[in-house]
Amino acid sequence: MENEHRIRLTKSGTVPSVCEFLARESETILQAALRQGVKWPHRCRAGACLSCAARAFEGEWAYQVEPMLSQHEQSQGWLLACIAQARSDLHILL
Ligand code: FES
Repeated sequence: MENEHRIRLTKSGTVPSVCEFLARESETILQAALRQGVKWPHRCRAGACLSCAARAFEGEWAYQVEPMLSQHEQSQGWLLACIAQARSDLHILL
């Protein structure tokens, strides 16, 4: 059975909200969100447009391709949901 991780998503904005969904290790965080009906801004789905960028406060993730984010951005928790795969439970601010 494939590992799944719990993603806790806090959406900021005029009406902040919190939701949770599960992400398999073989899918991207964006794929998992959309599969479970969670709205997440995106366009290219290939790590090129940055529209899916979000910031993780807890947890680990991995990339199959190098993200177009600086080392500084990555050290601050920024991730690209369309190419990032969860490796632990995560708390993400969108
Ligand atoms: S959707 Fe374009 S970088 Fe993620």
